[in-house]
Order: sequence, then structure tokens, then C-alpha cells
Amino acid sequence: MEPTMNRREFVGRTALGAVALAASLPARAEEAPRTVVVGVMGLSRGMALATEFAVQPGVEVRYVCDVDTKRAETCAAEVEKACGKRPQIVDDFRRILEDQGVDALVCAAPNHWHAPATILACSAGKHVYVEKPCCHNPREGELMIEAARKHNRAVQVGTQRRSSPSIRKAIEMIHGGAIGRVYASRATYASVRPSLGRGKPVAVPAELNYDLWQGPAPRMDYLDNRVHYNWHWFWHWGNGELGNNGVHTLDLCRWGLQVDNPVRVTSCGGRYRFADDQETPDTHTVGFEFEGNRAITWQGHSCNGYGEDFVNFYGETGTLCLDDGGDFKLLDLDNKVVLEEKGTLGGPEHIADFLTAIRDEAPTRLHCEIGDAYKSTLLCHLGNIAHRTGRSLRCDAADGKILDDAEAMKHWARDYEPGWEPKV
Ligand SMILES: NC(=O)c1ccc[n+]([C@@H]2O[C@H](COP(=O)([O-])OP(=O)(O)OC[C@H]3O[C@@H](n4cnc5c(N)ncnc54)[C@H](O)[C@@H]3O)[C@@H](O)[C@H]2O)c1
Repeated sequence: MEPTMNRREFVGRTALGAVALAASLPARAEEAPRTVVVGVMGLSRGMALATEFAVQPGVEVRYVCDVDTKRAETCAAEVEKACGKRPQIVDDFRRILEDQGVDALVCAAPNHWHAPATILACSAGKHVYVEKPCCHNPREGELMIEAARKHNRAVQVGTQRRSSPSIRKAIEMIHGGAIGRVYASRATYASVRPSLGRGKPVAVPAELNYDLWQGPAPRMDYLDNRVHYNWHWFWHWGNGELGNNGVHTLDLCRWGLQVDNPVRVTSCGGRYRFADDQETPDTHTVGFEFEGNRAITWQGHSCNGYGEDFVNFYGETGTLCLDDGGDFKLLDLDNKVVLEEKGTLGGPEHIADFLTAIRDEAPTRLHCEIGDAYKSTLLCHLGNIAHRTGRSLRCDAADGKILDDAEAMKHWARDYEPGWEPKV
């Protein structure tokens, strides 16, 4: 009779056996990742995302969705070119949510869609990759976090520099003390955008479902200078340059400085370059003060492209400068460069990070998780509210809510087209 083995002998022998067996087998191919099925909504920025998702290992882009049929056709062809498989075209993203086989919605529709689509997607059991700014107003951000938690879904926000290996290294260095205590950060944006002119009422183009384009936003007549893209410059749908390009850099500033919500927000600026329909500033400087003697400033010039440093961090023993391509350099207090590295923007890595969280069933283990990402978007909203009310705001560091200013707090939320109010 075989003598009985004690536990240690058993474990030892099976471990040795496993090693011997593994050595005798031919090398096994890397295990294929579980297929993640996605649908992509809003196909301008979304076209880039759809093709980037399509070439990731183990991803099926099953649907592309746009309310503009021309854009949907173009994107379906691009995805097919990228991965060899043509996705289905739908004009209503709710068809994507109805498909039980879909794991995630990618939302790159205009800002007024981000929260309503994310909340509906989470309720339908889908994970969400949602573009920046994550919400059109602060209340929507709060609801998105609630929805993600309630349904235990991964919600990754599209500030992709959070996944850039070079930027991650730079931020780790300053967190590790490379420039001493960091107490300030400054970000800028510059470009030459033209005038929007004055909008004229015209027939809605045949390829566009304008009613579904508007969706949750209360109805407005169709004018010829709003759709596509120019909606960014109208408060009804967009958040100006601060919410458009500002959020990318403010997210980096907040990350590097390790701050959450500000205690004071100031703004100056306006539509200085052109007299036209644009409501949001083209020239805008915003300041944010945080507890513990730390501050962020952002300066946006949308009608003059003279570029200054993208993001700088100021520390007691030096400065760290990030450029808009992901390169960085470290300087001492004599402005001597002590380290310089090349980098990238992190787009593919950001998508890979989202897919890993889904496959590992770790919905909050994301580089730009909604709970944290919302705080960066909130900075944009607070800067815009300070601009629109024409005064400085004092805020509660705990949740960013504006103190002692009921009029400013009216901008915390928006009105909805009846039937589209987001509900968690
Ligand atoms: N992370 C980045 O680097 C980055 C870059 C560009 C844009 N963005 C973000 O992507 C979003 C879209 O920006 P854009 O420049 O592509 O704007 P855009 O106006 O050019 O494109 C938006 C697209 O969404 C479509 N759309 C509108 N409502 C829809 C709906 N209900 N269903 C499906 N499609 C719908 C429009 O028809 C249009 O094709 C914005 O929130 C923007 O901030 C992010």
C-alpha cells in the first residue's frame, strides 16, 4: 500500500511534478485575453477611439453609432480597414445597451451627452469609457459616480495622459521629492480658432438626426454654426476651452500637486477677439487655491497660438515641465536642465488600462477613474461659474460645493428635455 503523504510532502511533490511537466511540454502560446465587446458612440473623436479599440488584442468593436449617417459610414469603413471586421451601424446608442453581449460603451458624443449616456449604460450593466470633460455640469458628475458604484462598473474618463508612461514617470518623480515640496502648477493652452460668425436658421442636413443629437438638452432651433464641433462654445452643450482643452492640463496639475477640491476660484477673461455668437471666453485665466498653500493657474488663448509651457510644477528645489506630447524635463533652481526624457500621450495605454479593469473585474482600478476624474472636471466647471457670475468663489474643500452664493450654485445642475432627466 502506498504510504500516506503528509501535506508538506504532497505540496512539494506536486510542485516538482508541475515543474517537470511544464518542462516536458512545448511552450504554450500566451493565453488569449477574454474578448471585450464594445460599441462606440459619437464618431469624430470616437472614430479615433473605435480604430484604437479595434486593434487592441481581444476586442470586438461590434457597433459604431452616430446620429450623422455620413460619419457612421466613414467610421465603419475605417474600423473594417483597421481590423478586418465591419461593425454594425446604429443611430440610437440605446440599441447598443440592449445587446446583452456588449461589455462596454465608449462615449465620444458632445459634452451634454456624457453623463446621461454613462448613467444609462451603467444601469444596463455596461462599463463605460467616456470622453472628457466627464460631465456637462457638477451635479451630473456626482450622479455618474453614484451610477458607477451602484452597478459596480468601470468608468474610465478620456484624459489619456494619465496612462502615458513618461508622464506617469514624471509625476512619480515629483511625488518622490525630485523638486522638493511642490506648491504650484501652471498650465496653458494656445491655438488660433476662427470666428463663428452669426448663426442662421437653415434646414437640418438630411444625414443628421438633430432631435437625437440634442437628446437630454432642452430643444433649440437648428442654426448653421453649432453642429458639428462648435457646440463647445455654447453653454447649452459645451464648457468652453476650459472644459475642452483645459481639463487635460488641469487633470495633470491636480495629480502632480496631490490636491482635490479648491477653496477659492478666481477668473478673468471673455470673448475678446471676435464679436460673434460664441458665449464662452476665448481668452481666459483661472486661478485655484487649495488648502496647504498650493495653487493652480490655467491660461487659455483660443485666438492666438503663441505657445508657452504646457504644464509646469514649481517646487522648493526645482521645476518640472511637461510638454503637450508627453516629453518632460527637470530643472534645478538655476534653471539648469538635470534630466530630459521623450514620451508619448498614452492613448493606447489608456484603453488597455480600461480593458484590464474589465477583464480583472476590478472596476475602480483605473488610471482615470470617474471618482477622481470628476474632481478635475469640477475645476473647469468652477472656473466657468466664476467667469459667468463675475466673482470669486469660495468652495468647500470636502466636496467642491460653492459656499454662500446661491446664484453661483444655480450653475451646479442643468434643466433637461422632459423624459431625459438622468436617474440613478
Ligand atoms: N481625449 C481627447 O483627446 C479628445 C479629443 C477630441 C475630442 N474629445 C472629446 O470628445 C467629444 C466629442 O468631440 P468631437 O470633437 O468629436 O465633437 P464633434 O461635434 O466633432 O463630434 C461629435 C459626434 O457625436 C455625434 N453625436 C451627437 N449626439 C449623438 C448621439 N446621441 N449618438 C451618437 N452620436 C452622437 C455627432 O453627430 C458627431 O459626429 C467631446 O466631449 C470632446 O471633449 C476628446
